[in-house]
Amino acid sequence: MLAVDGGDFGAGCACKAAKKKRNICLRGNITMITRYRIGEPIDTEAILQKPEIHPGFDPAWTVIENEKTLVLRMDPDAVVYGLGETVRGINKRGWLYTSDNKDENYHDEGKHSLYASHNFFLVSSKRDTFGMFVDTPVIVSFDIGFTKRDIFSIRFDYFDADFYVLRGGSQKEIVREFRGLIGRSYIPPKCAFGYGQSRYSYMTAEEVRNVAEGYNRAGIPLDMIYLDIDYMERFKDFTTNEETFPDFPGFVNEMKEQGIHLIPIIDAGVKIEDGYDIYEEGKAGNYFVKKENGDDMTAAVWPGKVHLPDFLNDGAREWFGNKYDFLLSKGIDGFWNDMNEPAIFYTEEYLKEVFEKIEDFRGKELDVYSFFDFVGLVSAIENNPEYFTYFYHNYHGNKIRHDKVHNLYGYFMTRAAGEAFRRLSPDKRIFMFSRASYIGMHRYGGIWTGDNHSWWSHLLLNIQQLPGLNMCGFLYCGADMGGYSDDCTEDLLLRWAQVSLFTPLMRNHSRKGTRRQELYLWENSQDFRHVIELRYALLPYIYSEFMKAALRDEMYIEPLSFEYEEDARAREVDDQLLVGESIMIAPVYKQNASGRYVYLPETMKLIRFRSAEDYDEEELPAGDHYVSVKLNETAVFLRRGHVLPLIAPALRTAGLDHSTLHYICYDAEAESYELYDDDGISISS
Ligand code: GLC
Repeated sequence: MLAVDGGDFGAGCACKAAKKKRNICLRGNITMITRYRIGEPIDTEAILQKPEIHPGFDPAWTVIENEKTLVLRMDPDAVVYGLGETVRGINKRGWLYTSDNKDENYHDEGKHSLYASHNFFLVSSKRDTFGMFVDTPVIVSFDIGFTKRDIFSIRFDYFDADFYVLRGGSQKEIVREFRGLIGRSYIPPKCAFGYGQSRYSYMTAEEVRNVAEGYNRAGIPLDMIYLDIDYMERFKDFTTNEETFPDFPGFVNEMKEQGIHLIPIIDAGVKIEDGYDIYEEGKAGNYFVKKENGDDMTAAVWPGKVHLPDFLNDGAREWFGNKYDFLLSKGIDGFWNDMNEPAIFYTEEYLKEVFEKIEDFRGKELDVYSFFDFVGLVSAIENNPEYFTYFYHNYHGNKIRHDKVHNLYGYFMTRAAGEAFRRLSPDKRIFMFSRASYIGMHRYGGIWTGDNHSWWSHLLLNIQQLPGLNMCGFLYCGADMGGYSDDCTEDLLLRWAQVSLFTPLMRNHSRKGTRRQELYLWENSQDFRHVIELRYALLPYIYSEFMKAALRDEMYIEPLSFEYEEDARAREVDDQLLVGESIMIAPVYKQNASGRYVYLPETMKLIRFRSAEDYDEEELPAGDHYVSVKLNETAVFLRRGHVLPLIAPALRTAGLDHSTLHYICYDAEAESYELYDDDGISISS
C-alpha cells in the first residue's frame, strides 16, 4: 500500500512537528478547464477525464482555417513553459518546436524536434496565465515568437485536434489540474532511485561482473547495471546470447544476490528470421504494421530487416507485452524501451532506389552541387520521414496510415509493456522507461532524454529540460549522465553527477567507441564516491518528494517562478531549479569554473557538501551572489522554514538503515518534514 506517512521515521529530527503549510496560491482562483475541438482528431488516449466539448474556440486565439494555424498575441512579459523534451531554455519563447518524434542524436540548439512530443504548455504574463494541451498524434509546430517576437502560432499538418485550455489559479495549480486530467504519473520501484551504470555495450556476463566488482572495490554505491543490445542473440528481442551470457537466469540471480538489478533494453523492431518465435507469432497473428497492399512492412534497424509490431492494435499490444515475461520469468525486473519513434535505418524499397540513383554519379567529376546531391542522397536513407507514409496501423478496427498517429508509437510500445506488467506482476512495480513518448505514456513508464553528447552545453540542457518534463507528467526522468556520444572528461562527469543526483533516473551511459565512463576508472574516484553517497544519503528526501509529487499530481522539479510567481527576476532564471519543497539547486555547468552567480529569491541556507558527512552551512540573504563551488563540492540551497532529511549512505538502496535518519533544518520551528516511505515495491491501489 502506498500512503503518505509523516510518522514512520522520526528518529533524529530536531525540528518541531507541526502541520505542514501548503504552498501559497498567489492568485487563489479555481482553474477552469475548457475543451475545444477542431476537425476530427484521432483519440490519443492521453486524457483520462474528458470534459464536454465547448463550441467555438478560446477567445485569446485566432483560428485561421485555411492556414491550419492558431494565432495568439503574447504579452511582452509572457513566459512560455512546458513542451517537455525539447532543446533550449526553460522559457520556450523565441524558437520553433515541432512535435515529431525523431531518432535525433544531435540535440543542438538548431533542432526543432527530439524523440518525444509533449504538447502541453503554459503561457504566463502579469495580465493572464493559462495552460493548453494540444492533443493530436500528428506533427504540430509551436512557433513561439520565432517568426514574430510577440506571436505564438500553432501550425498543423492535419487540422484535427482536441484542445484543453486551463485558466485560473497559479501556474502550479494549472499544472496540477492538467495532471489530474492525464492521470497519475508512473511510479517505479524504489531501487530505480539508486545509481545505475550503463554502456553500449557490456558484451559478456564477465564484463558485467567486472563492472560490479569495480564499483564494489571503489566502495561506490550502485543498484543497477544496464544491458544494451549485445546481450541479445543477434539483436533479437526476447532472446539472450547463450555464448556470452550463459545461464542467464543464474546470472540475474547472482547479481541480485549482490543487490544489483540487471536492466535489459528492448527494441521496437522484430528481426525477420524463419524459426524465430517472436517473428513467427507476430506474422501468424497479424501483429505487424502493414503496407497498403496488406503485406507486413519491412524496415531495418540493428538486427537488419525487421517488422514493426503494431502497438496501436489491442491484440498486438497484448501479445508483445506478454513477451516481456521471457525476461521477467528469468528474474529481470526492469527494462528500457528503445528505437520506438520508430527509428528506421532504411527500407528495402528506398535503399534500392538509392542504389539505382547512385549509378548516375559513378565516374563523374562531382562539383559543389552534384557532390552535395550525392551526400544528401545517401544520408537521407536513415530515418527518412517518408517511411512513415509507407505503413498502416489497425487502431480500434480502423486502418490508419502511420504518419497520422506517428507520435503515439513509443507511447503505445511502453503501454504494451505497462499493461502486461499489470497482468504479469500485479503486486510488484516493474521498472521501465522509454526513449520516444507522448503525454499519456507517463502513466506507464519514465523516459530518458536519448543520445546526448559529452558536452557542457548538454549538461545545461539536462537542467533546462527537467521542469517541462515534470509539467507533462514525466516525473521519472533523467539524461545520460556524462553524455552518450563523444569523450567525457572527469570534470564534466563530476559536475554532471552533481546534477543527476537530483534527477529520479541517475544513469551513466555512453556509446561504443567513446572513453569509458565507469566512475571507478577515474583518477579521483573518491570524488565520485562522495557524490553517489550523497545521492543515497538524500534518498529519503528524493523518494519522499517524488512520491508526494506523483500522488498529488505535482511537480518534483520546478522552475523558480512556480514558487516565486511575483518575482520578476525569478522568472528569468533558467539554470537553477527547485527540487521538492525544501531545496533549490544552482549547478555549475561550465568547464574550469570553481563557482557561479546564483540568484536567491529569498534568504536561504547554502550547504556545501564535500561528502554526505562533510559539509558546511552558510546563510545567504536574498539577491545575487557569486558562490564558490569547488569541483568536489555539491551546493544545495535550503529554503527557510524547511528541512532536509539525510540518511547514512549504503552501497545499495536496500541497505539504507532508517535508524540513521537525521535532518538539516533551517528555522524550521514551525514546520515538520512530511517524510514518505513504503516498501518500495508494492503497487498502490
Ligand atoms: C540508441 C539508444 C542508446 C543505445 C543504442 C544502442 O542509440 O538511444 O542509448 O545505447 O541505441 O542500443
